[in-house]
Amino acid sequence: MKRVVVTGGAGYIGSHTIIELVNSGYSPIVLDNFSNAKREVLAGLKAILEFEPHVEEVDCTDRSALFSAFERITSGETIDGIIHFAAFKAVGESTLMPLKYYSNNIASTVNILEAAKRFDVSDFVFSSSCTVYGQPETIPVDESTPVRGADSPYGYTKQVCERIITDFVRSGYPLKAALLRYFNPIGAHPSGHIGELPLGTPDNLIPYLTQAAAQLREPLTVFGNDYPTPDGTCIRDYIHVLDLAKAHVAALNWLGGQGTTCEAFNLGTGQGHSVLEVMRAFERTTGVPVPHRIGPRRTGDIAAIFADTSKARRELGWSCQFNLEDALRDAWNWQQSTVD
Ligand code: UFG
Repeated sequence: MKRVVVTGGAGYIGSHTIIELVNSGYSPIVLDNFSNAKREVLAGLKAILEFEPHVEEVDCTDRSALFSAFERITSGETIDGIIHFAAFKAVGESTLMPLKYYSNNIASTVNILEAAKRFDVSDFVFSSSCTVYGQPETIPVDESTPVRGADSPYGYTKQVCERIITDFVRSGYPLKAALLRYFNPIGAHPSGHIGELPLGTPDNLIPYLTQAAAQLREPLTVFGNDYPTPDGTCIRDYIHVLDLAKAHVAALNWLGGQGTTCEAFNLGTGQGHSVLEVMRAFERTTGVPVPHRIGPRRTGDIAAIFADTSKARRELGWSCQFNLEDALRDAWNWQQSTVD
C-alpha cells in the first residue's frame, strides 16, 4: 500500500481526501495541529472508514516537531507522497492579520518541502486556489492564464507557495509536484459524518446559506446584485468536495507515472453559477426556503470566474461526478446532522 502524508488531513477538504485515498487503496497518515479543525472529525472518519486513521498532532511550522513526526511515520518504511493542505484560508482575516498568514502558510510549505527532501518523498500535491488568477480577462480560465497581483495576503501566500515549489523543482531536486487550483469547494460526505465545520460565523456562501436556512443565523446577505452578470450577482464554479477529493487521488496516480515535473491543474466543474442561482437550486433541491436580503458588494469580490478543466480531464483522467444539486443536498444533510 502506498503511504501518503496528508497535512491538514482533519480539515474540510483534507478529511474528504482521506476517505478517497483509502477507497483507492492508499494508506493515508493525517498530520494536523487542530487549530482550525475539530477533533470530532476523527470520529466522523472512523465512522465512515470503520477504522481509525493514523494521526500525528503536529504544527507544520515547527520544523523539529514536523521532522520527529516524519521519523515516527517512516520507521524504516518509505513515504510515497505528501498532500499539503495545512494552511489558514480566511481571505478577510488575512487582510487584517497578514503576518499570521505569511508566517504560517509559507513556513509550513518550506518545512514540508524540507521534510520531503530529508525523507526522500518525491510525489507532492499542493492545495492551491483559483484566487491566483484574480479576475481573469476571459472565462473560463485555463492554466496558461497569467497569475495576477494577489487581492489578499491569503491569495499571495498561494502564489508564493506555488513559486517556492516551482523553484525547488527548477533547482534540480527530483520532485514531482502537482499544484491543484481549487475553485469553490462545497458539499459534504453523503453519510453526514464529515463536512465543513467553520468556527464562528461562516464567511463562505454555502455554510452561511445552510445555517440561515436552518434559522441559526440572520438571513443570508447576497453581496451585491449590480455586477455585470445576467442576474447581477457574482458567478463562481462550485465543486462537490468529494469530486475535489478524488482529484487528489488522480493527481497522485498521475505523478506516479511522471519524471521530475511541476504542473498546475484547475479543479472545478467548468460551470459557473450565480449566487441567486445557487439559492434557487438549494430551495428546489431541499424544499427549504432561504431567508435572504440583497446587500452591498463585499470588498475584494470579483464578478465572475469558472474553470476550464480540460487539462485535468486530459492529463489526470478526472472529471466531476456530482452536480450543484448533489452538493447542495449533501451540504444540507450535513447541516442537519450537525444540529442535535
Ligand atoms: N456570498 C454572498 N453572501 C455571503 C457569502 C458569500 O453573497 O454571505 C457570495 C460572494 O460575494 C461570492 C460567492 O458568494 O460571490 C462565493 O463566496 P465565498 O466566500 O463562498 O467564496 P469566494 O469565491 O469569495 O472565495 C473562494 C474561497 C477562497 C478563494 C477564492 C478564490 O473561499 O479561499 O474562492 O476566488 F481564495
